[in-house]
Amino acid sequence: MDSYRMTDIHMHIIPGVDDGSFTVEMSETMLMMSWIQGVRTVFATPHSSAFLSDPDLVWEQYRLLKERTERLPFSMRLYAGCEVRFEPRDLDEILTHLRTGRIPSMNHTRYVLTEFSTRVLRQEALGMISEIRKEGWIPILAHTERYPDLFAEDTLDRILDMGCYLQINAYSLSDDPEGETAGRAGRLLSEKKVSFFGSDAHRLNHRPPDVEKGLKYLYEHCEAGYADAVAFGNSKKLLMPS
Ligand SMILES: [Fe+2]
Repeated sequence: MDSYRMTDIHMHIIPGVDDGSFTVEMSETMLMMSWIQGVRTVFATPHSSAFLSDPDLVWEQYRLLKERTERLPFSMRLYAGCEVRFEPRDLDEILTHLRTGRIPSMNHTRYVLTEFSTRVLRQEALGMISEIRKEGWIPILAHTERYPDLFAEDTLDRILDMGCYLQINAYSLSDDPEGETAGRAGRLLSEKKVSFFGSDAHRLNHRPPDVEKGLKYLYEHCEAGYADAVAFGNSKKLLMPS
């Protein structure tokens, strides 16, 4: 394959609103790094805490980044989203914010990039997902490989049966290839349980955009049709309805 094509559905690219990019110039550099690796579409997904503390600032910074992205010397599409953190204690509150729109879904769809504590227990996760689904939202579980307890028993099958989708971080496949996280990410791909790739890029000096090695792994280990769906097809179909 000459070059990859990817939609990055998980990126902390809006400057100055969370622990992601500091400045719009840093965001532009990160977008360039992503483009070189094959990314053509990005979902800007700040942590939900940013929308809770100052939503006007987040949207103002998103609009600024969108304007600047349109003037870059390469073509990159940008959509708005959010990485929504759910804890059992504030589940109702977060669902209310989703309902009112204070916390946004992915590009105004019913899909919600859903994050739990890495220490989440499977019964807690199943309980929260059940409540999220009751409200009609469709969770896309962010960096699924980071929740060890969800790999016990048939938990992930139950989560998929509840109508959820799974995202993995591309760098998880290459960072520490012999590590447990890479093992879990690779297993999810081999079982075709992953629907989306993300970078979860934060800053130039902390988790910079790093998807190329993950894309290489994807295309070397999975059949081309499934790899295309994970890299860009599912996001086009589900998150960018025309
Ligand atoms: Fe993230």
